[in-house]
Amino acid sequence: NNYALIMAGGVGSRFWPVSRTEYPKQFIDFFGVGKTLIQSTYERFLKICPAENIFIVTNEIYTNIIKEQLPDISDNQILAEPIMRNTAPCVSYGSTKIAQLNPDATIVVAPSDHTITDQEAFIAAIEQSLKAASENDCLITLGIKPSRPDTGYGYIQYTEDCLPTDDQIHKVKIFTEKPNLDLAKSFIQSGDFLWNAGIFIWSAKAINKSFSVHLPEMHEIFQQGSAAYNTDSESEFIGAAYQQCINISIDFGIMEKAQNVYVLPADFGWSDLGTWASIYDIAEHDYVGNAVIPAEKVMMFNSSNCMVNVPEDKLVILQGLHDYIVVESNNTLLICPRSEEQSIKQVVADVKSKF
Ligand code: GDD
Ligand code: MG
Repeated sequence: NNYALIMAGGVGSRFWPVSRTEYPKQFIDFFGVGKTLIQSTYERFLKICPAENIFIVTNEIYTNIIKEQLPDISDNQILAEPIMRNTAPCVSYGSTKIAQLNPDATIVVAPSDHTITDQEAFIAAIEQSLKAASENDCLITLGIKPSRPDTGYGYIQYTEDCLPTDDQIHKVKIFTEKPNLDLAKSFIQSGDFLWNAGIFIWSAKAINKSFSVHLPEMHEIFQQGSAAYNTDSESEFIGAAYQQCINISIDFGIMEKAQNVYVLPADFGWSDLGTWASIYDIAEHDYVGNAVIPAEKVMMFNSSNCMVNVPEDKLVILQGLHDYIVVESNNTLLICPRSEEQSIKQVVADVKSKF
């Protein structure tokens, strides 16, 4: 009864200009390992459920890239969204569709743009959670020990109470999505918060029930058309359904509100390649804290703690630069203080309206 729903419709705008709307980061081989992020994600889930139970939700502009990168996936396993409405509609569509195929399904919902270094620990955490989700009416998320007051994540505070069937899966007290910097700092200082990994495990029944309580209009929209699922009229139905959906993430729409949220604290070498800070964290540094990819033609003088990612053949010289991001791709150069990287998203929106 295990299914995977991979969310692959984001544009990765905080990674611009390396991640572009036409070709976002999940379709890029970020570290030159011969596999793109979505290919690695798919392979991880092959160890957890049969290939035919893996579904990918993406924007319709990416379906061809997905068919190219994941040739074993059938058309019915690609859920194409006509417009971007963030992750709540994406999960509601996927969960109602999977429920129609199998009302007793348990589902792991996962992003397509993370790196995970300890595959075995990851699989063990998912299998443990899937089992718990099949036995309890609950929404489970995986919690990661935080390393910096990053405002791009969800923060979770949990209690000592656990699921009756699993004494490692704790009841969540507060789920705070993308806090402001002061709040993030106080969460980190208090020491008892985890980051939301953005990987969710639940039964189709539990998540669809939560939608009916917390986002009832959205639930109604997708529930109404479930007769169209897995038939020729699915895409027509979805085209109309998305026009009526509000734009909201699963984190703000469901996780912050639901009362039956649980967390499994986990450690499997997780990294959300969400911003340059996350690349900086896992990249190699020189003795003054510069991370340079690739390093051959970059020369740095009296410069420290910079994140540099430029084309291989580009000669780059930095003099007296500290705590900056310097990135070039697609003939576009971005220079930004590391402390302001969250604003890249907004900057890109402005740039796009002009060029
Ligand atoms: N299909 C689809 N449609 N996928 C989407 C859409 C959409 O409209 N928007 C985003 N996605 C995909 C992205 O490609 C990514 O794989 C995943 O959904 C999560 O979206 P992000 O935009 O990357 O979310 P986030 O990183 O800001 O926040 C989430 O992840 C953090 C951990 O990485 C939240 O769950 C946070 O709470 C969490 O800490
Ligand atoms: Mg992300």
